[in-house]
Amino acid sequence: MQDIIQALEERRDQARQGGGAERVAAQHGKGKLTARERIEVLLDLDSFEEYDMFVAHRCTDFGMADNKVPGDGVITGWGTINGRMVYVYSQDFTVLGGSLSETHAKKICKIQEMAMRNGAPIIGLNDSGGARIQEGVSSLAGYTDVFQNNILASGVVPQISVIMGPCAGGAVYSPAMTDFIFMVKGSSYMFVTGPDVVKTVTNEVVTAEELGGAKTHTTKSSVADGAFENDMDALMEVRRLVDFLPLNNREKPPVRPFFDDPTRREKSLDTLIPENPNTPYDMHELIEKIGDEGDFYEIQRDFAKNIITGFMRLEGSTVGVVANQPMVMAGVLDIDSARKAARFVRFCDAFDIPILTLVDVPGFMPGTSQEYGGVIKHGAKLLYAYGEATVPKVTVITRKAYGGAYCVMAPKHLRGDVNYCWPTAEIAVMGAKGAVEILYRSDLGDQEKIDAHVADYEDRFANPFVAAERGFVDEVILPRNTRSRICRAFAGLKTKKLDNPWKKHDNLPL
Ligand code: HXC
Repeated sequence: MQDIIQALEERRDQARQGGGAERVAAQHGKGKLTARERIEVLLDLDSFEEYDMFVAHRCTDFGMADNKVPGDGVITGWGTINGRMVYVYSQDFTVLGGSLSETHAKKICKIQEMAMRNGAPIIGLNDSGGARIQEGVSSLAGYTDVFQNNILASGVVPQISVIMGPCAGGAVYSPAMTDFIFMVKGSSYMFVTGPDVVKTVTNEVVTAEELGGAKTHTTKSSVADGAFENDMDALMEVRRLVDFLPLNNREKPPVRPFFDDPTRREKSLDTLIPENPNTPYDMHELIEKIGDEGDFYEIQRDFAKNIITGFMRLEGSTVGVVANQPMVMAGVLDIDSARKAARFVRFCDAFDIPILTLVDVPGFMPGTSQEYGGVIKHGAKLLYAYGEATVPKVTVITRKAYGGAYCVMAPKHLRGDVNYCWPTAEIAVMGAKGAVEILYRSDLGDQEKIDAHVADYEDRFANPFVAAERGFVDEVILPRNTRSRICRAFAGLKTKKLDNPWKKHDNLPL
């Protein structure tokens, strides 16, 4: 028996070597951790259960029969993050560049299927040169099997992708179908085709970093949801995110111990709104002052900064936050911000995470670039997402809620459950100046008359009371009491039940 055990240990040892010491050193030389080191950082100590350690590819072309490494370039299994189960795959770049073979794909599919059956998130650590060239169509078939599972798992268990090396071709499409994508600055790339192909086809000269680096995807394309300095930071942030999420679509998000009094008053919020309605203020301040312990996990922080999305906790329970940001383009809604917020709202709804919406929005962005870009369809995505969401929805209007943007930002009319506003709220079709210019066009040369009309309009509409009289807001609350009011509102909605009519699936405006 001792010999048998020793033989097993030797095989295990060999599998743990991956592509060998030289390639591991090269991986470290690029500032990257190995696939196994990443799993160790991601999961609780000693919690990893590995599967398929000895799986090897079956390719015999191109001299591959003599080039077999146990595990075939991906480490798979499950472990825990703060005691809660997650499934993981981690691609090993030291083995054939982490390229995806038929068997590599089968290993990923196995844990995707186990994750769906057992109801736990899937975390993919991606570091791969894409389809294994030697295996031809078999590797394409493998990728497509992974994609199919990504699609089936969507909305069933949270799926998180971390891009930790070059990811080309098929290697980007699986992450693209997951809920969150994080990248590592300076060492991760995502593109459908790399710089060489780009040059051949379009004559553009571009570096890998410019084409598909972390900055590109977090500020321009919005493909990625966050960028971190190194592997360690990225993995620690994934741990933090998982703590906010339920394990699957049938479970509630976790409730964590909290030390922040739900009835805490924040007097400073009474003066958050500047006297001049055109002066911006930082919506982050409000978010941080109302959430438990000021903790906020922001998603897509560097893209479409005119809207803020992320997670906070209230009385220990996760709440998704969507907030207009008056500091950036006055918080206007446009194509990018509507798309960003719509996807976030849909994630929250799919995983039973209540949504808090903080509104200060002057309307939709006018202009040809917006119209040509399809702001009608993209704006409708957010409208649609809020309207179909059945999770508890609490809204606070702090200042402006004008026009179409009022209709979109989780109002009562989109089945908002509790809609509050501050006394500084202005709920109207548009701002006073714009309205007067349309209503009193014939008086435009006479400044005195125009000023009087503006004053009259402001008096009648630049306040929350017209909406409050109609019951479109449930209560006008003092800013200092916002935390306690929304905590109570969400507490009262814990037993909410609301179903949409049966349908095969919806046809949201894509
Ligand atoms: C087989 C691969 C490989 C691949 C890399 N390797 N990519 N082996 N199939 N796709 C191997 C290399 O031969 C090398 O082996 C080792 O991995 C490390 O690669 P290097 O090139 O030395 O590393 P580096 O200089 O860091 O460059 C990494 C890279 C580059 C940028 C990823 O290797 C590359 O461009 N690879 C090809 C990318 C690609 O075009 N993939 C196919 C995409 S098409 P040795 O033995 O020398 O260490 C696709 C189709 C699916 O994925 C589409 C579905 C929608």
